[in-house]
Formats: sequence, C-alpha cells, structure tokens
Amino acid sequence: MKRLHMALLAALVSASPVLADEEAELVINGDLHIVTRAPAAPHLEGHLDEVISGWVFRSDETQALQMDDFDNPGMVFVDRAMEVWNTVDGSEGKSCASCHNDPAESMKGIRAVYPKWVESAKEVRGIPAQVNDCRENRMGAKPWKYEGNEMAEMEALITLQSRGMTVDVAIDGPAQSTWERGKEIYYTRYGQLELSCANCHENNFGNMIRADHLSQGQINGFPAYRLKNTKLNTVHDRFKGCVRDTRGVPFKPGGAEFTALELYVASRGNGLMIEGPSVRN
Ligand code: HEC
Ligand code: HEC
Repeated sequence: MKRLHMALLAALVSASPVLADEEAELVINGDLHIVTRAPAAPHLEGHLDEVISGWVFRSDETQALQMDDFDNPGMVFVDRAMEVWNTVDGSEGKSCASCHNDPAESMKGIRAVYPKWVESAKEVRGIPAQVNDCRENRMGAKPWKYEGNEMAEMEALITLQSRGMTVDVAIDGPAQSTWERGKEIYYTRYGQLELSCANCHENNFGNMIRADHLSQGQINGFPAYRLKNTKLNTVHDRFKGCVRDTRGVPFKPGGAEFTALELYVASRGNGLMIEGPSVRN
C-alpha cells in the first residue's frame, strides 16, 4: 500500500522546470519589508530547516499583485469589512465598533498569536470562533458561516492590523494537546490517494504537482485572495480543498479537527510574518 501511493505521488510530482523568482523580496507599498524565509522553529527539527512563505512560490505576476495595496484585489473586501465593523447588527443594537472602537488599535497583534487557548472558553480557538462568539453572545446577531464571505472579509480586516508582525503562536501549556492533535492530522494519510499534508508540503515543496508549484502550505498569508475563485478564502476553506484533492472527506470548517490542524500549521510558520490578505492563484 505504502509503495503504491508513493509511486502515485511520484507520478504526479515533477521537478520545477520554470522556477519562480525564489530570490524575490516582498516589500508592500514600497516600505513594508516582509520576511518570507526564516529559520524553522525548534519543534520542526528533523522536518524542515527553513520556513518559506507561499508568496515565494507564486509567479512574478501573482507576486506583484501583493506588493501594492492598490493592485491587491483582497483589499476591496477589507474596505467592505470596515463598513460591517461600523454597522449595528442584532438584538443588542451594537456594532463591532461599539466595543472594539478602531480595529487598528484593538485588533493589532491578534492574528499573529491565533489560534490560541482562550481561558474563558477553555478551548483553543481561531479568530472566526471569537468573532461568532461576539456576534451571538454580545450582539444578539446570527453567527456567520465559518468559510463564508463575511467571515473571510472580517478576518482579513483583523489580519491586516498585524501585517508585518512575526507569527508567534503558543504550542505549550493548555494549547499543547490540541497542537499534538493537529500534528497527528498533518502526518495522517487521507483519501483514496493516501496522502498526508506532509507528503506534499514537507517532502515536495519546490516541486511541481501538475501545473502547480508546491509551497510549504503555510498560512501566514491568509485569508488569501485567489485568482481562481476571485474571493477571499479562509484557512479552513483551503484545508478542505487540499483534503478533497486527495479524494478524501474533509473535516468540518470551524470544527475541532481543522482548528487543531490550523494551530499546528500556524506553528510551522512561527518566525514568518503575517502578510494577509495575500494573493494566490
Ligand atoms: C458588546 C461588546 C462587544 C461587541 C459588540 C463585539 N465584541 Fe468582540 N469582544 C468583546 C469582548 C469583551 C471580548 C473579550 C476580550 C478579552 O477577553 O480580552 C471580545 C473579543 C474579541 C476578539 C478576540 C480578541 C482577543 O484579544 O483575543 C475578536 C477577534 C473580536 N472580539 C472581534 C469582534 C468582531 C469582529 C465584532 C463584530 C462582529 C465584535 N467582536 C463585537 C466584546 C465585544
Ligand atoms: C496532493 C498534494 C497536496 C496535499 C496532500 C495537500 N496539499 Fe495543500 N496544496 C497543494 C497545492 C498544489 C497547493 C497550491 C500551491 C501551493 O501553495 O502549494 C496547496 C496549497 C495549500 C495551502 C495554501 C498555501 C499558500 O501560501 O497559499 C495551504 C495552507 C495548504 N495547502 C495546506 C494543506 C494541508 C493542511 C494539507 C493536509 C490536510 C494539505 N495542504 C494537503 C497540494 C496538496
């Protein structure tokens, strides 16, 4: 069995013929220098030496779109989320702004440390779970769909306030068991193709899989505007697509498994910088 799927993967993957400009530097708006390569965190010893942003693997054209906010199609959705931020919704007559004022201050640094253990909830949560908690329990409003547009756009607004900050999620203390669950999922083979996340994103990054240049599958760029579906995509949406590509059945967006996986994948990016909303193909 093991030999069969490795042969399958070998048939799918090939060395990259036209390398993207892997030496390119990501500077946003001409002044924000983003670290796109960093030494791997100690917990990755034996797995990766260096962690690399997905931006590095994209074509020159796609890279360029992320280097200027006027060209980045994801920024339109951030503007839209800013309107939602200021709009009253739900039975309590409140908007996000009623309690959190200006996101540039109240949301700064949040994206760099999430998912994290939330003591009041006694669980590890991603940003969407916090947003829905506020909507349901503090605003008396309907929760948003985890991988829906409103959530992706609000997460992009929150993420933007941490752009250029170093990813630093905690993997110890009360978060440790969730982190370990996420790690286990990362190395489990799923689907008819029997492939794990690691088979593609750890063992084959830099290679081509069909027409796609494989990255390390980092999430420091999320939410990501994809040219393919012309909208912002959440982390769990991307995970879902990757599991489907193995012809497997994905976990539920917003559920415990994908949240644990998100914490683990985020921790593989510790040392990189938050760059969302990013642009991908
Ligand atoms: C009635 C007040 C109130 C409203 C309205 C509200 N929140 Fe909150 N929010 C809170 C409180 C209180 C916390 C918990 C703060 C803490 O524990 O540090 C919180 C926490 C959060 C967090 C986690 C912050 C952190 O430091 O980890 C996010 C993200 C968030 N809210 C987003 C939103 C968004 C987006 C909206 C609008 C859709 C919203 N909130 C509406 C009161 C509110
Ligand atoms: C069959 C190979 C394959 C497997 C298995 C796979 N992926 Fe992917 N993944 C891809 C391809 C191809 C892309 C698009 C190009 C790229 O960014 O690597 C991608 C993209 C991603 C991205 C977006 C990266 C970025 O910077 O935009 C993330 C995150 C990701 N994958 C996570 C995962 C996780 C988590 C798993 C395991 C549940 C997984 N992938 C399994 C092939 C795979």
